[in-house]
Amino acid sequence: MKAAIETKRWNGPAEPHGGSLIDLAVPAEEAAEWRGRQKSLPTLALDGRSLADLEMLAMGGFSPLKGFMVKEDYDSVIDQMHLANGCVWTIPVTLATSREEAERFKVGQPIGLLDGTRLIAVLHLEEKFEADRSREAMGVYRTQETAHPGVGALYAKGEILLGGTVEVLDAPTHNDFLPYRLTPAQTRQIMDERGWKRVVGFQTRNPIHRAHEYLTKSALEIVDGLLLHPLVGATKADDIPASVRMQCYEVLMENYYPKNRVLLAVNPANMNYAGPREAVFHALIRKNFGCTHFIVGRDHAGVGSYYGPYDAQKIFDEFKPGEVGITPLFYENSFYCKPCEGMASQKTCPHTDADRVILSGTKVRELLSKKQLPPMEFSRPEVAKILMG
Ligand code: ADX
Repeated sequence: MKAAIETKRWNGPAEPHGGSLIDLAVPAEEAAEWRGRQKSLPTLALDGRSLADLEMLAMGGFSPLKGFMVKEDYDSVIDQMHLANGCVWTIPVTLATSREEAERFKVGQPIGLLDGTRLIAVLHLEEKFEADRSREAMGVYRTQETAHPGVGALYAKGEILLGGTVEVLDAPTHNDFLPYRLTPAQTRQIMDERGWKRVVGFQTRNPIHRAHEYLTKSALEIVDGLLLHPLVGATKADDIPASVRMQCYEVLMENYYPKNRVLLAVNPANMNYAGPREAVFHALIRKNFGCTHFIVGRDHAGVGSYYGPYDAQKIFDEFKPGEVGITPLFYENSFYCKPCEGMASQKTCPHTDADRVILSGTKVRELLSKKQLPPMEFSRPEVAKILMG
């Protein structure tokens, strides 16, 4: 009797979402062939947000997706938080265009996707369908208010969605953060080289203050490595730019983290501010990058007061055991406590807010604009100095 042959099409500590790591890049000869046909293809120039989605799709950050969603998946994700094939997925990944532009495209046709004037991918158009924005807004964001930045971005997009698989000729190019632009295959390889079996992923769109540092370090106590994975795609205008944040992460790594236990890489995805749904989405992405664990703290991916402080944790209970396939690590609001003389949360500290160093974002911005260092219990001085400019 022949022994069963097990084929494993990925490396790294965690199985990719859906079981295999997607790579949409076509071989060089095929890419050249498509480029040769460019003049005869209808084309669509992608905006920054769609380019970021394409980049995530291309490298398998959105595994198991192989392209932009067709209606069946779009509906199922909004209503059931699963793809039509049953795989957990919480935020639609769609390619939107205006009604007039959509007229130019025929179902069954290949469409050239452009970065500026450069042909970077081909969409095999399977379906054109109308976005159901109000249902998407309520289902994904729990609000239809366009003041919510995710809902605002949704309503700013075209109303026709182009669904189909994608072949990628050339990933979008960048000229920033180059050493940190690692694909899931690359982060997985590094994790393997370092012998990491359990890896925690940390999402952030902010500079790392002491509370963030506390979460990441307490998680590091129980796993082998940390993937520090700041999001560098589109964020809202008043978030701190990625270029400034990266300097903060570098200075922290240099001074406060053991280098061999942390991997700093950027996540090119866009921020949706979808709170609970985005916490699951962020976890699935980090699973694709090789993580076995994922940090979800207070008001993860939240904005204003649209979500309760722990809604992004509670949502994980809505899935069957094992379905998400990455272990969330939940943290309560964390702070420095003076009598405890250390970082803590309600879970570990018996004192009251009066004893704790808690600063609002507005207060921190005010201090920094006056060139005053926030207390070192709130932010490392090296980080605060970078933020002062
Ligand atoms: S987010 O939009 O990426 O979630 P941010 O970069 O501020 O925003 O947070 C990164 C992670 O740290 C999230 O999981 C968030 O819940 C968590 N977090 C941020 N500040 C705190 C805090 N003071 N206490 C507990 N968790 C926090």
